[in-house]
Amino acid sequence: MARIFSGIQPTGIAHLGNYLGAIRNWVALQNGNEGIYCLVDLHALTVWVDPEALRAQTRTNAALLIACGIDPARSILFNQSAVHAHARLAWIFNCVARFGWLNRMTQFKDKAGKDREAVSTGLFVYPNLMAADILAYHATEVPVGDDQSQHLELANDIAQKFNHDYGVEFFPTITPRIMKASARIMSLRDGQKKMSKSDPSDQSRINLTDSADVIAQKIRRAKTDPEPLPGSEEGLAQRPEAQNLVGIYAALADQTVAEVLRRHEGKGFGPFKESLTELVESVIRPIAEATQRIEQDAGEIDRILRNGADRAAAIADPIVTEAEKIVGFLQP
Ligand code: AMP
Ligand code: TRP
Repeated sequence: MARIFSGIQPTGIAHLGNYLGAIRNWVALQNGNEGIYCLVDLHALTVWVDPEALRAQTRTNAALLIACGIDPARSILFNQSAVHAHARLAWIFNCVARFGWLNRMTQFKDKAGKDREAVSTGLFVYPNLMAADILAYHATEVPVGDDQSQHLELANDIAQKFNHDYGVEFFPTITPRIMKASARIMSLRDGQKKMSKSDPSDQSRINLTDSADVIAQKIRRAKTDPEPLPGSEEGLAQRPEAQNLVGIYAALADQTVAEVLRRHEGKGFGPFKESLTELVESVIRPIAEATQRIEQDAGEIDRILRNGADRAAAIADPIVTEAEKIVGFLQP
């Protein structure tokens, strides 16, 4: 039995990329493992977010995760700020990680863009907090999408430097669990950009709460090219939008890309999009409906998160207290 940790930012609404790249895997890994799943509200604060929106989205995304199949009786589901161990260990890691390491993070470069002087310092040290999230539990398996692999390498560098500097074998090595086939779902408007909550265009993503009509319309308008579907994977080269739609189909149908192409070879994107719409709807409808139902009882969501936070703290507090002892904090 392994201890699994993963997190999602409660900004916006979780989308199909989150589902296929991460959440679906979290649900599967609950079996036979100890799953710890976190709504990372401290990370959400690294870019401006309205306080009421943050509170509401934390609840909605909690409801969504439960609707997707995270079972709060088996797994631990909580919001990050409710367990202080994360912030305590993150500070220690701010002092272990090197400036140059963080300066190489591609997500920081992307998010900061040209305006580096104006972004929050929290955005820069974001990966240190992420390392703390995982290592505060001595978790060893981390299911994430492709975009997080650089952050996980950094987390291992931090763990190693901590162990080396203090002459201990305290933090374990983390193994990323990345589902290759669906680790990078792209925007419906631009096959070179990943599907993201922060994309200004809602047309670029399918939210897990979208209605059937909205899903149909977004897929109909999704960017494609005029060529029909090829018979083999080589025929998708240099066609990022086509590749993305076929990839989404394959992931949802639990088929390989080759199988999907064999079945749809020669079809235009019009009819293919209709089949894709049906498939996406069949997966999202039950999730959206369950989310709506769960969301109606905010008190129950808060109780679930409170209970999750208590169980999380019971694991993380002693580990972080030990780390504080190792670095020399007096514990009177
Ligand atoms: P975030 O929405 O950035 O908090 O991401 C939560 C999880 O979803 C992380 O494991 C990400 O790697 C994963 N994820 C986010 N966007 C995508 C995407 N477009 N395709 C696949 N996985 C994704
Ligand atoms: N940075 C991750 C993302 O945006 C979310 C996250 C925060 C996370 N802490 C984590 C993921 C710990 C895995 C483990 O996708």
